[in-house]
Amino acid sequence: MSTKPTRVLVLTCSTRPGALGPVVAQWLTETVASRAAALGVELVPVALGELNLPFLDEEEHPSSGVYQQEHTRRWSAIVDAADGFIVVTPEYNYGMPATLKNALDYLSREWAWKPIGFVSYGNTSAGTRSVQHAKQVVTTLRLVPVGATVAIRIGEAVESGQLRPDATRDATGLGLLDEVVRVAHALRPLRERGRVGALSGPLPGSYVRRLTPDDAAEVTVLQRCCWVDEAVVNDTLAIPALHESLEEVRDWLEAWHVTGIWLDGRLLGMVRARRDGTDWHIGRLAVVPDLRGHGLGRWLLRTAETSAGPDCRRVLLSTGAKSLRNIDLYRSEGYQSDSLDRPDGTTRLTKDISVRQR
Ligand SMILES: Cc1cc2nc3c(=O)[nH]c(=O)nc-3n(C[C@H](O)[C@H](O)[C@H](O)COP(=O)(O)O)c2cc1C
Repeated sequence: MSTKPTRVLVLTCSTRPGALGPVVAQWLTETVASRAAALGVELVPVALGELNLPFLDEEEHPSSGVYQQEHTRRWSAIVDAADGFIVVTPEYNYGMPATLKNALDYLSREWAWKPIGFVSYGNTSAGTRSVQHAKQVVTTLRLVPVGATVAIRIGEAVESGQLRPDATRDATGLGLLDEVVRVAHALRPLRERGRVGALSGPLPGSYVRRLTPDDAAEVTVLQRCCWVDEAVVNDTLAIPALHESLEEVRDWLEAWHVTGIWLDGRLLGMVRARRDGTDWHIGRLAVVPDLRGHGLGRWLLRTAETSAGPDCRRVLLSTGAKSLRNIDLYRSEGYQSDSLDRPDGTTRLTKDISVRQR
């Protein structure tokens, strides 16, 4: 989950000189532009004809992700960065155009767990047979077709090569975008799991990855929720984690190495760490209240320790002087209180890791 804008590619499939496809794609992007802005959606028009993709010419199966050709790598990067697709497609001989099939066949993992919506056009069937054909192919790639569609009957809708104004069609275009975006949000956890760098987490189905400033919203909620308990046991509200703004959280997510455990799009826990000379500072160890006692805190602590550089000699962390549960955890992991309680009501604990380095 993240606060990044949702990126929706609008794919124009037809490549013939004088094709109607670009006219339809332009109608769609103009019609939904302000709704897209309101939904935090970045619409990216892509004309398949401009990608210069020859008929599939890769030796390896696309699921390998091994791409020899520059055009494949370029296409892979474009699709990988997208959260969903709207395909503007004609019907050719009762099916989808070869350009679309070829563009789909080039890739695999990049398509997975993303919604795909269709704007079709044609004669009697308004391009709907093309869409049915495409749907059976896209599901193999784990693309998720949405139910909303726009189907344009050329004989009724087109005059002098342009689309006649049609408020009903405009409304279906907006409905299509809405549905693509809703499904894109709902599928985000499935995409996250497959993301490069996401590793299996300590609970079944959970995954672990480095948190970035885009995760600031979830981190802010998690820490406010978790530090309420600290405020109660330590009888103080003067705890930075309770007050930090979204911007402040963004800043430290940039500056620290932060690890998060996720399950189905929910941030279950986190820990941050960074180096200061030969000290390795660990902080903001947090686990959602309903999953305490499952070993997530200990797992995060150990994970944060293992990323200390080889020349780090000590791990430092602090907690509320009355946070006995935390202190018990740290002691059981080899930490010792190194000082008297500090004026701000916290206590510092350290662990010597210099032996580990020899
Ligand atoms: C090769 C070809 C096959 C076509 N087959 C169909 C068809 O099966 N059903 C249909 O409704 N229209 C069909 N048409 C008509 C197209 O819907 C119409 O020409 C449309 O403008 C094509 O899209 P484009 O201009 O973006 O290429 C076909 C057109 C072409 C060029």
